[in-house]
Amino acid sequence: MKNTYFILTSIAIMLFFGIDKHINAQTSANETLKFPKGFLWGSASAAYQVEGGTKADGRGPNTWDKYLNPPYSLAKMATGQDVNGDVSINQYDRGQFLKDVKLMKELGINTYRLSISWSRILPEGTGKVNEPGIDYYNFVINALLKEGIQPLVTLYHFDLPLALANKGGWMNRESVKWFTDYANLCFDRFGDRVKIFLTFNEPSIEMYFLQSVFDAIDNRQMPQIPASEKYISEHFAHIHHLMLAHANAVNAYHHRKLGGKIGITYNFMLCDLDSVPTENGKKSLELVKKAWNNLFMDPVFKGEYPKELFDRLKAAQYGDIQPGDMDLIKSAKTDFLGINYYGVNMYHEQPTAGFFGLTTGKNPDKPEMFNGFVDPDAFVKGLISLKEQYNSPEIYITENGAGYGEQDEKLENGKVNDALRTRYIQRHIKAVNQAIQKGVNIKGYCVWSMFDNLEWIMGYSRRFGITYVDFKTQERIPKQSYYWYQSFLKEQQK
Ligand code: NOJ
Repeated sequence: MKNTYFILTSIAIMLFFGIDKHINAQTSANETLKFPKGFLWGSASAAYQVEGGTKADGRGPNTWDKYLNPPYSLAKMATGQDVNGDVSINQYDRGQFLKDVKLMKELGINTYRLSISWSRILPEGTGKVNEPGIDYYNFVINALLKEGIQPLVTLYHFDLPLALANKGGWMNRESVKWFTDYANLCFDRFGDRVKIFLTFNEPSIEMYFLQSVFDAIDNRQMPQIPASEKYISEHFAHIHHLMLAHANAVNAYHHRKLGGKIGITYNFMLCDLDSVPTENGKKSLELVKKAWNNLFMDPVFKGEYPKELFDRLKAAQYGDIQPGDMDLIKSAKTDFLGINYYGVNMYHEQPTAGFFGLTTGKNPDKPEMFNGFVDPDAFVKGLISLKEQYNSPEIYITENGAGYGEQDEKLENGKVNDALRTRYIQRHIKAVNQAIQKGVNIKGYCVWSMFDNLEWIMGYSRRFGITYVDFKTQERIPKQSYYWYQSFLKEQQK
């Protein structure tokens, strides 16, 4: 029974994540594109994906320590690789981190996006501060600044302290206070040097994919990926608590007058409406898109939930929306909108996959990679639509990149010729440039990722790095995409 359950789960997960397809791409010659003065160029990462040291110096466990280890071993279910984040790419090792900063410096980036592991600095999620954890982030921040690299810090990148998950996690209204206290601790200890903060990373992915899978596993049920409409309805309080927590953190940050900015970042879900033949299909797809994007963006940038979805999801019944909440949400003036974009995720040949469902139909014009179909034009259009919907917000592209399996990119004679990723990055940087020319207020771009790392449920089976990592020896080998980005950044300095 247990086995059947695991096999079914793994099939579901594999079906969602899909199987990589080869695409043919040639790298084109460098084009000189002009970007605004002071534009931030960087690369991005997240604590659990790169740090390792999960038991070091008093760190407390988080949800990933639970679900990537027995008896759950989620990565094993999804990929067959029995792996977790205990070592990852070893950046908790200060010597390793310094070597990595050297590679960043040589690359020529001026920004590095990292996240703080909540349970490294507050092992129980609240209460007693773990000073060695604070020391580690001080070391990281100072090492970056020393090389002229500005840290862009995400407070929460999918890794809830286990002690808080055990108290109901984001469904517990106390979570608003837990997060506010944690955010205040980070502002106190790091806000003198960190000038750009992000509260949350990809809240809809966390809820629709990750949390719903964790919940299903805890209840010994078959996970639905993404979560069903019923699940989302019944867990609307999770969304609402995140929004309150975000608002509190933004207000607390501004209150301190530290001279920096605070934002939030989203996975930007785009779908190709042109590929849907019927009017009804287009309508339902439009609503799906709103459920992924607007449900999380509108409260932050307009101070309200989108009405149609609010009603459909019975938020008044399930949302834990109390008097004063919407005023609090409205009062927080978020400084910028962060965007993570990879590809177009939804092609509905027949939009029958259910309200929140994604179907990946075939589109021979748009090659597939892990995380979607490559479509930089959709990115340009999507960025323009954000400008129109949210009154020209300041935008940072906090992630953009391409992930491939081992079969798609190989270390050969000490080199990784990742032509597909190189071409992908070129085309998306160009898309960012086109959006800027159309008046979108974009201030920075981070490639995901500087190094191959732990891709959550997929373990180490998907490589996103512009630097290859030998996970056994921790050797780093810059790929072709690293060298292309390096030459591009040199051009930008002229
Ligand atoms: C977005 C997530 O923020 C990041 O953690 C993940 O590794 C990338 N997407 C690639 O899937």
